[in-house]
Amino acid sequence: MKIDILTLFPEMFDGVLNSSILKKAQEKEAVTYSVIDFREYTTNKHRKVDDYPYGGGAGMVLTPQPLFDAVDQLKSGQETSSRVILMCPQGERLTQQKAEELSQEDHLIFICGHYEGYDERIRAHLVTDEISIGDYVLTGGELAAMVVIDSVSRLLPEVLGNEESSKLDSYSSGLLEHPHYTRPADFRGMRVPEVLLSGDHAKIQKWRDQESLKRTFLRRPDLIDMAALSEEDRIYLEKVKKDRDS
Ligand code: ADE
Repeated sequence: MKIDILTLFPEMFDGVLNSSILKKAQEKEAVTYSVIDFREYTTNKHRKVDDYPYGGGAGMVLTPQPLFDAVDQLKSGQETSSRVILMCPQGERLTQQKAEELSQEDHLIFICGHYEGYDERIRAHLVTDEISIGDYVLTGGELAAMVVIDSVSRLLPEVLGNEESSKLDSYSSGLLEHPHYTRPADFRGMRVPEVLLSGDHAKIQKWRDQESLKRTFLRRPDLIDMAALSEEDRIYLEKVKKDRDS
């Protein structure tokens, strides 16, 4: 996969793209990242990327020219189609499902604005997706793009080893993960649940599945509504509900 990032603050990406799993993803050649200052694409003398809004009002608006030219050039070297993703609080909320969808693509172009709004023609005629990482306003799209890039890159084949496998992550099953414990079995009187020390793998798996269900029900009931539950799961959740309300 090729990921191009258009930003006025390329230095923001240095640490994130060159650490941990994102660094490994590059080393394994699963992905190449290019961080591009789109001011380089301005055709005006003062290299201005924004201008006053038509109709008046506070704030500046990013002009279409540098972004259209940059995207045209980035696409021109590509044989396959490209997704052009605008980071903005008005976009579709990022989910694991969206990350999985994007991880199937060959070329992603992220557009990150700072302070300013975007000229509407960028939204209407340049981008294929608008993504928000949550209902809060960041200073710019960069941090949000890093979140999307992280969630996508870790899904690419070969990037995660067995130890870090994404299959068991919270959300990939539609439910939150069960609790984890490691040594010691007794820490300051806080004991690891006996079942985990039992060596009975079927029992352990059942405990994990039920803890995952319980945790999701108690913390994120909205996810339970969407999960495919068995009859046994439903009976178990009735019991959890009773315990909670008693
Ligand atoms: N830019 C500013 N706030 C944002 C958000 N919540 N998500 C994506 N991009 C943003």
